[in-house]
Amino acid sequence: MLLAQLTDTHVTGPSNDEALYVDHNGRLAEAIRCLNLEHPAPAVVVATGDLANWGRPDEYEVLAELLEDLRLPFLALPGNHDQRDRLRATFPSTPWIDADHASWATTIDGVRIIGLDSTVPGEPGAAFDDDRERWLGNELDHSDGPVVLALHHPPFITGITWMDRAGFVGLERLAALLATKAQQGHSVTKIICGHLHRPISSVIAGIPAQVGLSTIQHVGLDLDPAAGITLINDPVGYLLHRFQDDTWVTHTRYIDTGGVPYVPHWASDPGAKRPDL
Ligand SMILES: [Fe+2]
Ligand SMILES: [Fe+2]
Repeated sequence: MLLAQLTDTHVTGPSNDEALYVDHNGRLAEAIRCLNLEHPAPAVVVATGDLANWGRPDEYEVLAELLEDLRLPFLALPGNHDQRDRLRATFPSTPWIDADHASWATTIDGVRIIGLDSTVPGEPGAAFDDDRERWLGNELDHSDGPVVLALHHPPFITGITWMDRAGFVGLERLAALLATKAQQGHSVTKIICGHLHRPISSVIAGIPAQVGLSTIQHVGLDLDPAAGITLINDPVGYLLHRFQDDTWVTHTRYIDTGGVPYVPHWASDPGAKRPDL
């Protein structure tokens, strides 16, 4: 089973004039072109949030237009830049659950994929609350075989402090649920997420967790807790998660090598247009 993961495309409106340093919409078009050329073809493309830059209707119109060219099944989750209801309306064939949170679950080629909406409307951070705990616990109780959990926010502290600061309310609760369900024989075998705009891997409750790389600017790699906001035009692309013999292997497909100089240290330039990821 091959699962492609796109994330943080931050599509802008038709004029694309809000794109910061790189052509956000052009980058998604290039990712779609490359995804269509993958051989073997991924069974599904999962987009782990921040599909639109500001959650505006015109952005979702552009997103839908661009995705008309994708010749693969597509599933999307909201990120903190998305607007849940607009995302639901843009992708009506997604098996959205009937709840406030825009989550879904489906089985593709024998792999259960659970999309957990980690967003809080109007907030940059994440939440795993009573409703979501009940829903995810129930989903895991009824899952047999390999399970992938997809969500926008990484369920771990990354060490890139200005991004971590938004927080993840209920992170310990999520880890405890995953550990309990694993003991009961309902293990998640892979966690995929976005939000950090750069590839980062960790382990939560014994489960490998992987942040996908954005198709636009990456968050600068600066582990100084006092560091300000930094963005960098690192090479961009998407991830290919391959599942065989009970093992996940993650590959990175680069589609653009950046080409715009590093944009350093926003905090030192108070007059600069500050990005909001
Ligand atoms: Fe983002
Ligand atoms: Fe985000």
